[in-house]
Amino acid sequence: MVSKPHGGRLVRKLLSEKTKERILEESKEYQKINIREGTAIDIENIAHGIYSPLEGFLVENEFQSVLDDMRLPNDLPWSIPIVLDVKEKDLKFDVGDEILLYHKNIPIAVMNVDDIYKYDKKEFAQKVFKTTDINHPGVAKVYNMNEYLVGGEIRLLNELPNPFEKYTLRPIETRVLFKERKFETIVAFQTRNVPHLGHEYLQKSALTFVDGLFINPVLGKKKKGDYKDEVILKAYETLFKHYYPKDSAVLATVRYEMRYAGPREAIHHAIMRKNFGCTHFIVGRDHAGVGNYYGPYEAQEIFKNFPDLGITPMFFKEFFYCKKCKGIVNERICPHPMEDREYFSGTKIRNMIANGEIPPEYFMRKEVYETIMSFENPFVEE
Ligand code: ADX
Repeated sequence: MVSKPHGGRLVRKLLSEKTKERILEESKEYQKINIREGTAIDIENIAHGIYSPLEGFLVENEFQSVLDDMRLPNDLPWSIPIVLDVKEKDLKFDVGDEILLYHKNIPIAVMNVDDIYKYDKKEFAQKVFKTTDINHPGVAKVYNMNEYLVGGEIRLLNELPNPFEKYTLRPIETRVLFKERKFETIVAFQTRNVPHLGHEYLQKSALTFVDGLFINPVLGKKKKGDYKDEVILKAYETLFKHYYPKDSAVLATVRYEMRYAGPREAIHHAIMRKNFGCTHFIVGRDHAGVGNYYGPYEAQEIFKNFPDLGITPMFFKEFFYCKKCKGIVNERICPHPMEDREYFSGTKIRNMIANGEIPPEYFMRKEVYETIMSFENPFVEE
C-alpha cells in the first residue's frame, strides 16, 4: 500500500483552462506582485500536493507554530516554513483580496490573501537553521527576504518552463506507478548530488528490505560549486543503465530549492516523499547539511520527535571504502581502523574532478565519471 498523503488528502490546486483564461482576462482588476523563482517552485509543489496538506503560504499562527513546535496548529508535523515574502511598497492589497503572483511576466498563481504579517528574521534563522551566521546559505536567503509575509491559499496558473519535464513525476503519477508495479513498500532517496559509491550502497542496502526504490534528485537553484541539474540527471541515468534493477528502481526529479537546514529539512524531505506515496525514507550521514552547522547524525535523531510522521525513516551510518574489507562498508560491519578507510567526501571527489584527476573506482563508477566529464563545466558557477 502506498503511503497516505500527509494530512490524509492529496492537495491539488490546479485550474481548468477556462478558469485560467477568465482570471487572466480580468487580470487588470487584481493587484500583482513579483515573486522569486524559488517561490514559484514552492507554488508548484503546493499545487501538485508535494507539500500536502498545505494549500498555500502559511498564515501567522501556522508560521509561529512551525517555528516553535515543528508542527502545524492541528499538530501535524511540519518543519520548514513555506512563506511568501512581500515588500512593504507592494502591500497595496488587504486581507480578503485576491492577488496575482508573477515571475518574470509569467502569471504563476492566483492567491487569496488570508493574512499579512511581520516576522523576525533572526528568530526564523535561529529556529530553522540553528544559527544566525550569514555564511549559512539558508540564513543568507532569509536575511535577503522582504519584510512582510502574506499567507493564504494559492491556485496554479502556470508553471515555470521546465527543461526536465520528461523526468518530472508528480505525486498523482508516482502513486499510480507504484501501484502498477505492485510495490507495497517504497523507499525514497533524496539527493542534490551526482552519485558516488556511498550513495549507491545506501540505496541498495535500503532496497534489500523493500519492494521499490524511488530516487528523487532535487533540481533547482543550488549553491556555487554544486553540480548542475543536467549533470546530476545524466549521471543517474548512466548509473541506472548499468547498475540498477529495472523492475524495482524508479528515477524521477522534483523541482525544489534546498534550504540546507539539516535535521529540519530531513523531516520536510520525508514529508514530500510521503506525499509521492513512499513508505520509507533514507537518512544517511549529514542529510541536507552544509558546512559544520549540524552533527553528522542530527538529521536522524530528530525523527524520534515524530513518531506520527507516517513515513518510516531508514537510518544508515556513514559508508566508506575499507582497504582491508576491500569493499564499501560502515562502522557497524567493519572492524578495521581509520587508517584503512577512505571516506566519501563530495568535496574531495569534486576537487578531483575539477583538477582533472580520475576518482578511484571505489569512489565513483567509471561510467558516471565519464558522464560528468562529458560536460564542459559540470558545476554551478555563481
Ligand atoms: S542531501 O543534501 O540531499 O542530503 P546528498 O545528495 O549528498 O545531500 O545526500 C543524499 C543522502 O545520502 C542523504 O540522506 C545523506 O545523508 C546520504 N549520504 C551521502 N553520503 C553518504 C555516506 N557516505 N554515507 C551515508 N550516507 C550518505
